[in-house]
Amino acid sequence: MLTSEATTSALRTAAYATPPERLSAADAAMARHSVRSYLDVPITDDEIHTLLELTGRAPSAFNLQPWRFVVVRDQEVKNALKDAAYGQKQVGEAPVVIAMYSDMDDTMANLGDIVHPDLTPDKRASTIAMLEKNFGGMTPEALAAWGNGQANIALGYLLLIATSEGFDTSPMLGFQPDQVKAILDIPASATMTAMVALGRGADDGFRSHRHAIERTTSFR
Ligand SMILES: Cc1cc2nc3c(=O)[nH]c(=O)nc-3n(C[C@H](O)[C@H](O)[C@H](O)COP(=O)(O)O)c2cc1C
Repeated sequence: MLTSEATTSALRTAAYATPPERLSAADAAMARHSVRSYLDVPITDDEIHTLLELTGRAPSAFNLQPWRFVVVRDQEVKNALKDAAYGQKQVGEAPVVIAMYSDMDDTMANLGDIVHPDLTPDKRASTIAMLEKNFGGMTPEALAAWGNGQANIALGYLLLIATSEGFDTSPMLGFQPDQVKAILDIPASATMTAMVALGRGADDGFRSHRHAIERTTSFR
């Protein structure tokens, strides 16, 4: 006989056989919350592709898009990431973990690929020169902080889009960045944005609590 936990898990797994309806941005914003327990329900390459394509629609200053992603499915790699994340169980349990980082070295070394393809040759050359001047004078720390700010816009998109597409997520900064970089071969100079466990939740997680608008906003 199945235990009640196994019954719940079997029922939840069966419910995912039919893909859920895509949620509007407003509905996804209300529904999204962290889930730290996952079912063994795989995510297809097409689903990952859709999530990353939509996440990549995030805006960034100068459109530099300095965010980078590593999609991890391999159980041994996830186990190593879990150790680097102080044993957070969702890292080992979720079918996919996405490690996000910003890489300003890669961005600055490839401006020719990165600036808008529709620019005329003159405008392209002047834009690249402007970017090299603008960012060339920054300290490595300031450059990394700038890239990290942009990558966090994409993190917000990823979390919202994953909910909209019917997935649960757990964003995490509770990990040792140098260990995660070493496990995933991420350049030492890059800045980790977050790891995101992604899948179908085995439970509903906690109720989200948010401050009232009056607590966060002033009107003049
Ligand atoms: C950048 C970031 C890092 C986070 N790091 C962790 C983490 O390491 N472990 C964890 O359990 N939750 C982590 N969280 C989840 C937050 O605790 C959670 O988002 C917050 O309490 C609000 O709850 P909700 O996501 O359910 O709405 C993180 C969230 C963000 C956005």
